[in-house]
Amino acid sequence: MEITVTDNGPLRVTGPDIVLKDATGKAFPTAGRPAVSLCRCGRSENKPFCDGSHARTGFQSKCVAS
Ligand code: FES
Repeated sequence: MEITVTDNGPLRVTGPDIVLKDATGKAFPTAGRPAVSLCRCGRSENKPFCDGSHARTGFQSKCVAS
């Protein structure tokens, strides 16, 4: 699995077996998906997934690994 912090956008998770669970341990329906985008702007109406709201709201964040 690999996670990419996209510029001004979501966390892009790629991998063959993505398992994403809520705080109770119940899994979100990610089975069979090769990638998911997770909201990091806080404005998605479909959290924890990105719904594109970051672009409409002008979310700005660039993270550079050091
Ligand atoms: S990062 Fe895309 S809606 Fe939040």
